[in-house]
Parts: sequence; structure tokens; C-alpha cells
Amino acid sequence: MLTNAQLIQVQEAAPEEGLSLLASWFPGAVSFSSSLGQEDQVITDMIFRNDIPVEVFTIDTGRLFNETYELLEKTNARYQKNMTVYFPDAVHVESYVKEHGINAFYGSADLRKSCCHIRKVIPLNRALEGVKVWVTGLRAEQSGNRNNMPVIEWNEEKQLYKYNPLLKWSFEEMISYLGKYSVPYNVLHDRGFISIGCAPCTRAIEPGEEARAGRWWWETSQKECGLHQTVVK
Ligand code: ADX
Ligand code: SF4
Repeated sequence: MLTNAQLIQVQEAAPEEGLSLLASWFPGAVSFSSSLGQEDQVITDMIFRNDIPVEVFTIDTGRLFNETYELLEKTNARYQKNMTVYFPDAVHVESYVKEHGINAFYGSADLRKSCCHIRKVIPLNRALEGVKVWVTGLRAEQSGNRNNMPVIEWNEEKQLYKYNPLLKWSFEEMISYLGKYSVPYNVLHDRGFISIGCAPCTRAIEPGEEARAGRWWWETSQKECGLHQTVVK
């Protein structure tokens, strides 16, 4: 466990420094989950460019945009690294599709959440086995319920620390970092997409709409997939 002094040190550190500190305190047990979104590309750049010993992985739900796959390849080529890619359990997906249909997530919030559970949450839990620090690209500005999150906190359910190094970064800071280091990003961002998830569940947003308005846009419920909730349905 970290001492209070260590927690404060991480909270106050710049992201690169926080990542390095945690990697030295938990060797081989720090993992970063990347959706290849803009925030995630900033963190991937910090890890790969500075050779910080943190595992970078992504979850391929099987329903991502081709532009996202292109970005994955471009990023690996740029840094000469290979992100680990986790997939959902084929048997889970097959039985869900057999029972409910290939695009069942449009049918109800429960069906949508169970698709997210099978395609994202279960693979995430597998990716986090044995991990002591889970790094994410969450930013407080992204949504109301991300506003009150701490930079680092103990997650009782997963029995690990969750570290959100860009939590307090503004959108402008993130964009300026991407430009400064010429970090590859998803071309969909140039077409009005802000927050990008699975293709059938993400659309571009209109000027003035909030950042996550394009995610599960047909739902009025909380726009979260379960990755960042303590209690998962
Ligand atoms: S979600 O909960 O709505 O899907 P969002 O797209 O905002 O999440 O991304 C927030 C953070 O969740 C990302 O910075 C990343 O750490 C993690 N994440 C989301 N989707 C994935 C994915 N497919 N693979 C790995 N990590 C992911
Ligand atoms: Fe399924 Fe859509 Fe969730 Fe992707 S975002 S896992 S396609 S419901």
C-alpha cells in the first residue's frame, strides 16, 4: 500500500513523473488502458517516448471504427512498440448475438449494458489481473460524474490503485500536447467526433453539444459503459 505522503506526491506530480514514480514503486504491475482516444494518445506518448515501464493495452470490442484500427497500427509503428490487444470471450459474444441479435444494444439500456459488459468490462478485468495500478485517460471535464474523481484512489472492488494522470487537464492542454509532440490521433476527430467508442454506438457531435453527447446518443441514461463504475451490472 502507498503511504499518504506517496499518494500526495503522485497527486501533485506532472503525469510523466507520476507514471515513473508508480512504475518504480510497483515494478511490472502498472498498466494503462487505452481506447486510443485523444487523452489516451497523450499518455501513450508519455509512456512510449520516455520508455516508462508501464504496459499499454487496448480492448478491441470487435465493433471499433476502422479509423481506430488504423490509429492502433500507426501508433505502434511510430513508437516501434506493440500495444497488447484484449478481445472479448468468443463464447460470450456468440451466445449474446444468438439470443438478442447482432445490433441488440439499440433495443434497451439493459441490452446495451450487457453488450458493454461482455465486450469491454470482462476483458478489462482479465487485463487487470495481477495489476496494482490501473492508469486511465479520464478527464474531469468529460462528464459530470468524472468531475469528482480523485487523481489517484484505491479501488476496493478491483483491489488496485486507479490513476487518472490527465484528470485535471483541460481540452486545450490536451490538444496543445498532441500538437507539440506530433502525436498521432484518430482522423475521426477532424470530422466532429470527440469521444470515440464502438462504431455503432458513437456519432459526431454538433457545435455546442457536450463532449459525450455522441456516445449512446439514443439513450437518456447515464452515458457510461461500466468500465468506470464501481458496481457493474
Ligand atoms: S467509456 O467508459 O465511455 O467507454 P471513454 O471512452 O470515455 O470510456 O474512455 C475513458 C477511459 O476508459 C479511457 O481513457 C481508457 O483508459 C478507458 N477505455 C475506454 N475504452 C477502452 C478500450 N476499448 N480499451 C481500453 N481502455 C478503454
Ligand atoms: Fe456493445 Fe455498443 Fe457497448 Fe460497444 S459501445 S460494447 S457495441 S453496446
